[in-house]
Amino acid sequence: MSSPVTRPSGLPKQMRASVLSAPGSVSVESRPTPSPAADEVLVRVGSVGVCGSDVHYYQHGRIGDFVVESPLVLGHEAGGAIVQVGSAVEASRVGERVSIEPQRPRGDSAETLAGHYNLDPAMEFYATPPIDGAFAEYVLIQSHFAHRVPDSVSNDAAALMEPLSVGIHAARKAGITAGSRVLITGAGPIGVICAQVARAFGALEVVVSDLSEVRRAQALRLGATQALDPRVDPIESLGVDAFIEASGAAPAIRQGLAALRPAGTAVLVGMGADDPALPVHLIQNKELLVTGVFRYTNTWPLAIALVESGAVDLDSLVTGRFALDEVEAALSESTRESSLKTIVEPGRLSDS
Ligand SMILES: NC(=O)c1ccc[n+]([C@@H]2O[C@H](COP(=O)([O-])OP(=O)(O)OC[C@H]3O[C@@H](n4cnc5c(N)ncnc54)[C@H](O)[C@@H]3O)[C@@H](O)[C@H]2O)c1
Repeated sequence: MSSPVTRPSGLPKQMRASVLSAPGSVSVESRPTPSPAADEVLVRVGSVGVCGSDVHYYQHGRIGDFVVESPLVLGHEAGGAIVQVGSAVEASRVGERVSIEPQRPRGDSAETLAGHYNLDPAMEFYATPPIDGAFAEYVLIQSHFAHRVPDSVSNDAAALMEPLSVGIHAARKAGITAGSRVLITGAGPIGVICAQVARAFGALEVVVSDLSEVRRAQALRLGATQALDPRVDPIESLGVDAFIEASGAAPAIRQGLAALRPAGTAVLVGMGADDPALPVHLIQNKELLVTGVFRYTNTWPLAIALVESGAVDLDSLVTGRFALDEVEAALSESTRESSLKTIVEPGRLSDS
């Protein structure tokens, strides 16, 4: 049974949103609170994680071919609670706490029908021009991408199911299984999450490399079994089963490929090294499988289960917390070496 779209009493006509109007310029604006289409839900946003891509859009106004040409709301790692449903959505979902899968593929694209909807070329994705993101009090999402989370999962963890999904997609592609030996290059939030997922998938050795001592220490605290300095430690001789590249640095790609055992698998998650020189002889002589990761497909149910069970701990990644009118401070904080995940809470009042 579908329910009529109703405007619950108490839902404001206007909401606050943090808007990027030009590189380096973000401010809070009042915007109409959106209304859900038939298949959508309106979510009151509890927590939003800051991602490196938000910082990049803020600093440069573009990522590759995606250019900010009109005002844009950043933020795509979001969790909250459903406050209104569209006419085709069960009314009983109002009040449900959810994690948002921030994408909208076409249902009938060849990629979606083939099972990898993340690769739909017409994808609409939060905080990717021209689609607004979640640094706002309320957001819309199709009901099937508002994934229910249990009460034991915090708003922060609900938001961070998004980067966790990147880690799950990478671990699946890397074929990580019981007893695997894994190398992860880069101990930023993505690398640390990949390390936790690798452990949850049964890996016995999870070696993380990073140039930063601070980040190596964080990785050891949050899931790695060993943390190495790529400038001095003998990473190339590790002979691991799987390599997940999470730094975006060309030297790390080459080092990781050298560290694989014959017939091992490399998964390139990090972005930025667009045309690195690749050791083709290694890939051929060792018959390495080299693949990429672009976001995720079908990861949320497992992400929620891993967090609910305690196999993955997302709350410990949070190193800073800001209100909606402090988004610039949040973006700046998240560039610090000691910062892993900065959270923006749209419902929180700033201290100032
Ligand atoms: N493919 C996808 O769908 C996807 C999704 C999310 C993020 N990403 C990418 O994943 C990467 C990691 O994201 P993040 O937020 O953790 O980034 P981050 O910048 O916080 O972390 C990257 C880390 O790599 C380290 N590093 C640099 N050179 C290195 C080297 N030679 N060896 C080992 N470590 C090195 C840095 O010191 C840093 O700690 C980024 O490139 C990001 O764009 C990709």
